[in-house]
Amino acid sequence: IKNIGVYTSGGDSPGMNAAIRAVVRTALYYNLEVTGIRRGYEGMITGDLFPMDRKSVANIVQRGGTILKTARSEQFRTPEGRQIAYRQLKRYGVDALVGVGGDGTFTGAKIFSNEFGIPIVGLPGTIDNDLQGTDFTIGYDTAINTVVEAVDKIRDTAESHDRLFIVEVMGRDSGLIALRTGIASGAEAILIPETKNNLDALYHRLEQGRRDKSSKILIVAEGDEAGGAFEIGRLVKEKYPNYDTRVSVLGHMQRGGHPTCMDRVLASRVGVAAVEALLHGHSHEMIGIVNNEISYTPFENAIKHTTEVDSNLLRIVDILSL
Ligand code: F6P
Repeated sequence: IKNIGVYTSGGDSPGMNAAIRAVVRTALYYNLEVTGIRRGYEGMITGDLFPMDRKSVANIVQRGGTILKTARSEQFRTPEGRQIAYRQLKRYGVDALVGVGGDGTFTGAKIFSNEFGIPIVGLPGTIDNDLQGTDFTIGYDTAINTVVEAVDKIRDTAESHDRLFIVEVMGRDSGLIALRTGIASGAEAILIPETKNNLDALYHRLEQGRRDKSSKILIVAEGDEAGGAFEIGRLVKEKYPNYDTRVSVLGHMQRGGHPTCMDRVLASRVGVAAVEALLHGHSHEMIGIVNNEISYTPFENAIKHTTEVDSNLLRIVDILSL
């Protein structure tokens, strides 16, 4: 391997810049060249590639977003698109890749690597924490801290007005943001896509819960089967007209901001490990950290969707929100 291409793809997450910096500096440490690819697979196709040096990643470890930008590419889904992408990589002398992203990124990487035999490893970059083979994904810690800060603020006003708030957090297919932030913000109930009959459970909780609590906060993951915060808000208002109910959707603010120390360290560790993995002949794998050890998980296992959630965390919510 002489020249490693690095790209970010799919939804951005805080800490992606720290990962890019780690990949670039580690590659240079091993006397390799590095090529930055802008806008993920889209930039690979359009040829938006440029050489990177130590300076091109200076002063970015603390910045949210991704200096390489990101995109979701329709063209890369086609064999013709991937053929063009491969030709561009050859043109720039890129002979191995590190992709930072989530399931879409790894699905593309696996197909591309199989078709053209180019070694690719992935780094887990998503706020959703929904990848297998790593305890945490890059960006999750920052996102949950952002959510907790926002919900604390909502709690202040909810308490002043004796209101019930339904707060929607991100997580298209995963309730992991909702679960942890619900515990940390003392939510009265949490609705996540991994558990069923959430609405019945919610009504039960509202009926069993202490009446004298002046504020109530329900955290709902956007992917919950009950249909999003506004729909739940409508149903709750209809069933409990006595509650003064409000809805707040936190949205994309959850994807921005300076990465936390945890995310910067995670990104730095897996970034170094990714380059070393390529040099040791690894490919088709996501580099994560499990129990504080670097772990290597085949792309197809990393993206396996699971509906398993830590039942202990769910139990904690039940006990503590009484
Ligand atoms: O996968 C990360 C994520 O933030 C999800 O939680 C969310 O559903 C989705 O991306 C939003 O994507 P977009 O950038 O297309 O709005």
